[in-house]
Amino acid sequence: MKTTVGKIKSMKSKEKITMLTAYDCSTAKYMDEVGVDIILIGDSLGMVVLGYENTLSVTMDDMLRHTGAVARGAKNTMIVGDMPANSYNDNESAVLNAKAFIKAGADNVKIENKPEIAKFLVENKINVMGHIGLTPQTVTDFKVQGKDEETAAKLIKLAKELEAAGCYSIVLECVPMQLAKKITESISIPTIGIGAGPYCDGQVLVSNDILGLYSKLSPKFVKKYAELGQEMKNAFENYIKDVKEGNFPKEEHSFH
Ligand code: KIV
Repeated sequence: MKTTVGKIKSMKSKEKITMLTAYDCSTAKYMDEVGVDIILIGDSLGMVVLGYENTLSVTMDDMLRHTGAVARGAKNTMIVGDMPANSYNDNESAVLNAKAFIKAGADNVKIENKPEIAKFLVENKINVMGHIGLTPQTVTDFKVQGKDEETAAKLIKLAKELEAAGCYSIVLECVPMQLAKKITESISIPTIGIGAGPYCDGQVLVSNDILGLYSKLSPKFVKKYAELGQEMKNAFENYIKDVKEGNFPKEEHSFH
């Protein structure tokens, strides 16, 4: 059975929510089979799959193609489409683009900041996950956010505004763990942290980071669960060696 927004909301303070990014059908299928709660087609797609320097070049077309792939792989998991930069600059384009995500197979969408846009989407029956803190579409200072009293207070206010707008959860990215705790305790919807410490209601990471498939950055908040990049290099090297030395293909790989 598909995880619902109601189920995710009910997990607050009871059971930790797990979220991972996926961009393709096979990875999404593995995640679905082991029961991750939410799959996010993050606009991190731009960096970890498409090879851009940041997320700003990612288009709606890019996101929709990968959303379709993930949706074909994960039949039971809630799928969240990350609305890319400039796809929700005003109410009308936000609704149009969010609907395109749903048509492509997402169950709902994530946006960065912008409570007024979130409200309009919710009024148009689209469930919204908020995202505050280090929001790569607008932040130029790629550092921990909300470290002083003033910026911390702004983030608490923003979290409350997103809750009031009708968001069903909020991603907190790169904020001090004490602030994440305060925000988590100040709102009735779940917080999902990334670089936000242990007191959030859930956790999200970029799957390429935990699998050792993205070597350009290695943030402190990532825990690596595999070294698939090295595994791939070993496999490719062994293949090259086998072919060069005439050890593959052999008769058992051939047709008579
Ligand atoms: O794009 C992304 O992968 C994200 C997560 C880091 C939350 O927004």
